[in-house]
Amino acid sequence: MTQQEILDSLKPICLCQGIRKKVFLKHLSNGVKTVKGLKNATGAGAGSCEGKRCTPRIQSLLEQNGD
Ligand code: FES
Repeated sequence: MTQQEILDSLKPICLCQGIRKKVFLKHLSNGVKTVKGLKNATGAGAGSCEGKRCTPRIQSLLEQNGD
């Protein structure tokens, strides 16, 4: 992993809950391939914005890392 990839993996996806991109990537590589599944697995979307900020980021992660 390059330094840039490490920094990228530390970016927060769900700001309310403080969940970083690497947590989502782990579940993606374990076969979780839906927004709902990723939210359930990580706890994202349960913060004060109710997923308004993180849902589009989760969707784009799925688009970038989908099959
Ligand atoms: S950013 Fe994920 S619930 Fe607000």
